[in-house]
Amino acid sequence: MEKGLFITFEGADGSGKTTQLNMVKDFLIEKGFDVVVTREPGSLDIGKKIREILLHAKEIVADRCEMFLFLADRAQHVETYIKPALKQGKIVLCDRHTDSTIAYQGYGRNQDIELLKNLNKIAVNGIEPDLTLLYDVSTEIAQLRVGSEKDRMESAGMEFHKKVRNGYLELQKENPKRIKLINANNSIETVFEDTKNIIMNLIQEK
Ligand code: TYD
Repeated sequence: MEKGLFITFEGADGSGKTTQLNMVKDFLIEKGFDVVVTREPGSLDIGKKIREILLHAKEIVADRCEMFLFLADRAQHVETYIKPALKQGKIVLCDRHTDSTIAYQGYGRNQDIELLKNLNKIAVNGIEPDLTLLYDVSTEIAQLRVGSEKDRMESAGMEFHKKVRNGYLELQKENPKRIKLINANNSIETVFEDTKNIIMNLIQEK
């Protein structure tokens, strides 16, 4: 693959997407692919500082400040990490990306969705995922999986997380070609089978 492949993993906190991402990484490496794993927010040095503010701030974070911080992290991440990796022909597996901002800041925090889409465009500067896997799980199950040790975003409450889930489902309807829906209420093994099938189809197409 000359231009690499960009695959993003999306879903609620507690959807199990990070577990699946790591399983995909091992599977693809075993098959001989050149794979890198990354995440938003907080993959690189600037991002780690932004992540600390976003998830563990000691003061109230204004919604628009939160929005710009996620976007700032993304702009830096795409420019300094994702773009170069794709140029080298790598498969980039990214834990959360643009759709998280639409689901969480747009649907969850009621920020203007069209504006967020435009800001995302500025942040990614022409890079788009080849595939997005959306792990959909009921909010009740997701919250149980998260447990009691919650960060700032995870503590945002049931109503918020229901809006986020609904937002993701809307995004999937708008972008059925790029975003593939996976039922993450199922067992880890079943979810991984679904994940593998979708990814192998994409690799065969390329
Ligand atoms: P993280 O610990 O990475 O959660 P997870 O393992 O569930 O991905 O925390 C990231 C949190 O930030 C998560 O609650 C989702 C939220 N988030 C946004 O609200 N907007 C964004 O654009 C991104 C990338 C993440």
